[in-house]
Amino acid sequence: MSSTAPGLVDEIPHTVKLRSGHRRIEQPYYAGETLVDTSCRAGVPIPTNCRAGLCGTCVVQVLKGKVRMRRNLALDEAQVAAGFALGCQSTPISAECEIRYG
Ligand code: FES
Repeated sequence: MSSTAPGLVDEIPHTVKLRSGHRRIEQPYYAGETLVDTSCRAGVPIPTNCRAGLCGTCVVQVLKGKVRMRRNLALDEAQVAAGFALGCQSTPISAECEIRYG
């Protein structure tokens, strides 16, 4: 039985799969960290600038799974609907997470 209220995060991945150029890395995921945090620990950092959800430099494409953005002042609804997210503001909310960037 889930300890979280309906609609809130009740799953997180054990790992995040990162695709950057020709690199494919599977990195352990620590609860609460952003995709930028995870990519930095993996040694393949998502490019960033503001780290505040403003500039869009950290945009990633979510290939599998779901993420939740804490703040988004850079992407429009169509971009989000197409699977793009801000890595500096996104945390995975599904058992599986695979992203592409760079
Ligand atoms: S680094 Fe600017 S929105 Fe993420």
